[in-house]
Amino acid sequence: MRQKFFKLTMTLTAATAFTACQTPNGGLEVEHQGDTLTIVHIEKPAKYLILPIQETSNEVKVRLETGSPADCAMDVRLAVDSIDYYVPFALNGQHTVTVRRIGSDALCWDSICLSDTFDTTNRDYYRPVYHHTPLYGWMNDPNGMVYKDGEYHLYYQYNPYGSKWGNMHWGHSVSQDLIHWQHLAPAIARDTLGHIFSGSTVVDRNNTAGYGINSLIALYTSASDEHGQIQCMAYSTDNGRTYIKYEKNPVLTPFDGLKDFRDPKVFWYEPDKKWIMIVSADKNMRFYSSPNLKDWTYMSQFGEGYGAQPNQFECPDFVQMPVNGDRNTMKWVMIVNINPGCMFGGSATEYFVGNFNGKEFKCESHPQTVKWIDYGKDHYAAVCISNTGDRTIAIPWMSNWQYANITPIKQYRGANGLPRELSLYTKNGETYVAANVVPEAKTLRKDTRKVDDFQVNGEHRIKHLNDGTSSAMEMEMDITPDNAQTVGFDLLNDKGEKMKIYLDMKEGRLVADRTESGITDLAGINKGSYDVHVKETDDHRKSLSINYQNDFALGTWAPLSLCDGKTYHLDIFVDKCSVEIFVDGGRIAMTNLVFPTKPYNSLRFYTEGGEATISNLNIHRLEL
Ligand code: FRU
Repeated sequence: MRQKFFKLTMTLTAATAFTACQTPNGGLEVEHQGDTLTIVHIEKPAKYLILPIQETSNEVKVRLETGSPADCAMDVRLAVDSIDYYVPFALNGQHTVTVRRIGSDALCWDSICLSDTFDTTNRDYYRPVYHHTPLYGWMNDPNGMVYKDGEYHLYYQYNPYGSKWGNMHWGHSVSQDLIHWQHLAPAIARDTLGHIFSGSTVVDRNNTAGYGINSLIALYTSASDEHGQIQCMAYSTDNGRTYIKYEKNPVLTPFDGLKDFRDPKVFWYEPDKKWIMIVSADKNMRFYSSPNLKDWTYMSQFGEGYGAQPNQFECPDFVQMPVNGDRNTMKWVMIVNINPGCMFGGSATEYFVGNFNGKEFKCESHPQTVKWIDYGKDHYAAVCISNTGDRTIAIPWMSNWQYANITPIKQYRGANGLPRELSLYTKNGETYVAANVVPEAKTLRKDTRKVDDFQVNGEHRIKHLNDGTSSAMEMEMDITPDNAQTVGFDLLNDKGEKMKIYLDMKEGRLVADRTESGITDLAGINKGSYDVHVKETDDHRKSLSINYQNDFALGTWAPLSLCDGKTYHLDIFVDKCSVEIFVDGGRIAMTNLVFPTKPYNSLRFYTEGGEATISNLNIHRLEL
């Protein structure tokens, strides 16, 4: 075997390396054994091995060697010829790290180093001011969310080793008010059974699983090529900080060898005093029951042929809520995240309303009826927080699988939409979910500018919305279209980039058009590494008279028929890279990402074909 030893003695050339390394190049020895195996010997104890990442590189296998069969290799895009950023690889007191599948001439070997610290100061222009994001690394679905002892736990699909999808862990943040989040260490790490995919957490009040009264029990999917998608269990007795995996995992495998079988959501069904799991199974949701969270019995399935087509079911939730606030009339809502299936391409959240008898769900609408929790393009994997009593609170991931990996962000990727309170209302014989921003978001308001009511006939401008450094704001207003055919506004910046939001009364739609909102060619700025197509099959998108350019540069719309009409109350949240619109208490919710190159700082109201009235316009500056 060809062996090559050398000490890291070179001076670091990449300036950014100094921000990552406390003791550049000291304390470790890199031993190349041919081109396929490199052994990094840690000679001086340190907390982290700092890994240089190049996003366009292939994934290589990096493994902390402890001598245990549980040692698990992580997939890391180690830098080959340029460095995008660094990630910390925790050494946990160990001395050996093996790296497979990368040559000895790769750039990473020049700047890999040891450190006891890792600088997480924000370096991304588009990092939101008041939305939850991971400090670094990739995030997708919120999962396992649970409320216990005054704390909301937000676990999430997390890659600590790069800002693209991979190495699924459960990242972890906690909050007392759903708005201010504290980042904690990942709670569940990828292991030899696979990635830790989405799932849920319950409070085991009656100690059914035997880990103590009120212990937190997580059910998640382990996903790997070797074992497929199987449901596993872990428990926590330290308030969700760490989890111990059940020694007899998995607790559930698909009876028919199904490939797509994941994202278990578990809840206690009081009438039968049993646990129920709803788990996505390709184009269905399957229901299982259990007395103890470990032994699961199949009951039924629902989904095939229902709702938007084509689709792939993921991330279910199943909640019971009062209709029009009346606790004597309760209905069940099945939340189904689908990818693809979004009206505008890619991923979105739909739901079905119906009845449940403890075994089977029956949807009360026609199979072709499609109901959306959000009409934007960046609302996915939304599920509810367990154990919140009479409140039903959902949190979405604010992205779309079509381009989530190529947003113009590096240090981290992935943000959550604002938490939403779900409720049921009826309209024209159907029952719908309203998804309104939680009232806790009011704590973000720092100062408020009240604008006198005005009529628009043509154009009306409002300038200086902020000091030009941040567009973190909330705008509330009532729009009465009077006889206007179109009424709306452009949210503009000094460069003329704009997010257009308007009511099209002829078509009966609320429209958000981001074709001129800032950076819209996400594939172009990620030269060559991605291909974001113009799809010609999307009827909903094509029905807008908007110049559709690619999967990002487009408009989204929602039917105004969901609202009562005459006057529409809009509550709009703008952050560094997002615009969330809530109409009439969430009867319409619309979440879209935007990448303006300067903060939006003015409004241009306009009408076409008549007059409209804008009243109760309040512009709140938001701060965390
Ligand atoms: C949804 C999803 C889930 C899966 C997870 C993997 O976005 O595909 O079905 O558990 O992401 O990260």
